[in-house]
Amino acid sequence: MPRTILITDDDPSIRKVLSLGLGRLGYDIHVATNGQEAIDMLAAGSIQPDCVLLDIRMPVLSGREALPRIREQFPLTPVIMLTAYSDLSTGLEAMKNGAFDYLVKPSRMEHIAETVAKAIRYHDVVAEKFEMDKRNEEYRLSLEATMQSKTMELKETYERLKVANLQTVQALAETIEAKDQYTQGHCERVRSISVRLARELGLPREQFEPLEFAALLHDIGKIGIPERILNKVGPLDAEELEVIKMHPLIGAQILSSVEFFAPAINGVRHHHERWDGKGYPDGVSGEDIDPLARIITLADTFDAMAQSRPYRSALPMETVLAEIRAQSGRQFSPLVVKAFFDAEIYADYDSLAKS
Ligand SMILES: [Fe+2]
Repeated sequence: MPRTILITDDDPSIRKVLSLGLGRLGYDIHVATNGQEAIDMLAAGSIQPDCVLLDIRMPVLSGREALPRIREQFPLTPVIMLTAYSDLSTGLEAMKNGAFDYLVKPSRMEHIAETVAKAIRYHDVVAEKFEMDKRNEEYRLSLEATMQSKTMELKETYERLKVANLQTVQALAETIEAKDQYTQGHCERVRSISVRLARELGLPREQFEPLEFAALLHDIGKIGIPERILNKVGPLDAEELEVIKMHPLIGAQILSSVEFFAPAINGVRHHHERWDGKGYPDGVSGEDIDPLARIITLADTFDAMAQSRPYRSALPMETVLAEIRAQSGRQFSPLVVKAFFDAEIYADYDSLAKS
């Protein structure tokens, strides 16, 4: 698409020279005869110029008067002032007031073209940064809104029952999975595998309930991650990875709104920590990792490897088991890996996956 330039000058001969010269370079040229006409054209939205050329002396509305109004309403559009030699100081003053540059008339066409090209390049950089800031801000706002509504939902459920029971938490976990067909049943399987690991490990009775809640809700923070990233097929770029890595923190934040979930919070927060300290979000290692999270992380990884994902099919069970063994003391607590093999938790995985 050709780039658009709006030429604003009351002198028809200058409009003609500039239109021809820049038009020949492939620009889409529009003209206005004074500042007011230029502002009206911009406000009507019929053109979105990548650059505005603005004469300083014009009837109706001069360039000097039009500049601040254009800057205010279209801050991303670069404005190049056109000035007669005697107006040089006015040109400099205009730059102080936000003009991108100024051209002294008459200028060589080469010099004009160069200045226009520079302005458009600058515009592209500024516009891109603006778009990125806008996207980040939109994301931040939508994240806040989602978290608030999830928090309310949790609080309401809790208030109604005065106790959060397994069923309501299961229902909540299903709302997370609804976003992603590939993880259907995942939370429930992670819960079931975690409970069996906990039995083998001899986890104290009172920790079973928090374990089940944390296992079911371990990925609740994903409601705050944009779906385009969550369901992306193929590798994520660095920025997307950083966003994904926020989900344990978002999840912990949501659970912290209900007192009842307090014992489960770190189980969620730490479910991507690694025994060797190379995990996220806190980078804690070994015994500093929440004991519930040490169990959940193995159950989560095991189920993820044993199931199909958008980008790969399920791994053969021998490969999955070899990987879990290899990750003992690296990704996983050696004790939890031992419990996994002692209890032969993989043995009836197929029936678990189908149920
Ligand atoms: Fe996760």
